[in-house]
Amino acid sequence: MKRIFSGVKPTGHLTLGNYLGAVRRWADVDQHRADALFCIVDLHALTVDHDPGRVRRLSRQAATLLLASGLDPRLCTVFVQSHVDEHARLSYLLECVATDGEMRRMIQYKEKAARERERGGSVRLSLLTYPVLMAADILAYGTDEVPVGDDQTQHVELTRDLAVRFNQRYGHTFAVPRATHPEVAARVMNLQDPTSKMGKSDDAGPGVVYLLDEPDVMRKKIMRAVTDSGQDVVHDREERPGVSNLLEILAACEGTDPQTLSGSYQSYGALKKDTAEAVVELLRPLRERHRELCADPSYVEGVLRDGAARAREMARPRVDSAYRAIGLLAAG
Ligand code: TYM
Repeated sequence: MKRIFSGVKPTGHLTLGNYLGAVRRWADVDQHRADALFCIVDLHALTVDHDPGRVRRLSRQAATLLLASGLDPRLCTVFVQSHVDEHARLSYLLECVATDGEMRRMIQYKEKAARERERGGSVRLSLLTYPVLMAADILAYGTDEVPVGDDQTQHVELTRDLAVRFNQRYGHTFAVPRATHPEVAARVMNLQDPTSKMGKSDDAGPGVVYLLDEPDVMRKKIMRAVTDSGQDVVHDREERPGVSNLLEILAACEGTDPQTLSGSYQSYGALKKDTAEAVVELLRPLRERHRELCADPSYVEGVLRDGAARAREMARPRVDSAYRAIGLLAAG
């Protein structure tokens, strides 16, 4: 059976981008077709300036939202990264295989480091080594597929390179994974700035639809989305990024494609209205389930406890063999 691994970082409230680009597919497709693990990658949230209490709250909330999205602990493993030591253990070994040049070439590192410096802050070393920890997340489980939005492509490519390099140098240890992306909405854009990604850590609230926004707030954000100067509704990401983003969101909600949809609209107003309603309807069951789960925090805790135990069992033998392969003495 195929092994699937993916994760979400608790650096902000989950967004429509996280849902359409990743989480929805995990629940609707991936957990049914493979042996799948989904992880709240809390260690990754420490790579930028953070508030400890907020990271803890966001981790709990992310876990609750994953379950509310339909992840079923009878079908897949849901857990928190820091509960399974193997991630950090393997990350160090992979640091001994990766190069600093590779790390410095990562687009997300360059962007985030520039942002930290602009704010007058310093760049944490862990921000540079972030992709190695992500590679460890994936490789520890013998993962075949990594379902992600397309902003993660470069990180998964690096993971493949590290797996191949490790295997060549020290003997076959890791499966070489590949990224998979949804057909539509692999990169949902910010509604106020459709040339940049809708990111959960963005301060730009009005351009970001959060999964837990009230329906009226979602409607308002979508109705106020920046559109383009033309009048006709066409799907063209380069020339019409605003309208194309709305078409992709609506297409993803309705399970159709943006090109076909564009033919049915004569005005931006009608497109926005339908998109707003489609998003509110798509997320309604999730919001209701989230409310129920919040009333039962011990259920969520139990899922995470069992998930971590299962994940540990799965990761330990492979990480142990990587320790032996690279030349470390067994503890006896
Ligand atoms: P994160 O937390 O930024 O995002 C979680 C998932 O949501 C996708 N995503 C989007 N998809 C479409 N449009 C958007 N605007 C959008 N924003 C986010 C992301 O592509 C991702 O699939 N580095 C990862 C977390 C991670 C991970 C891993 C993922 C750590 N270890 C191992 C997979 C496997 C991240 O920051 O995701």
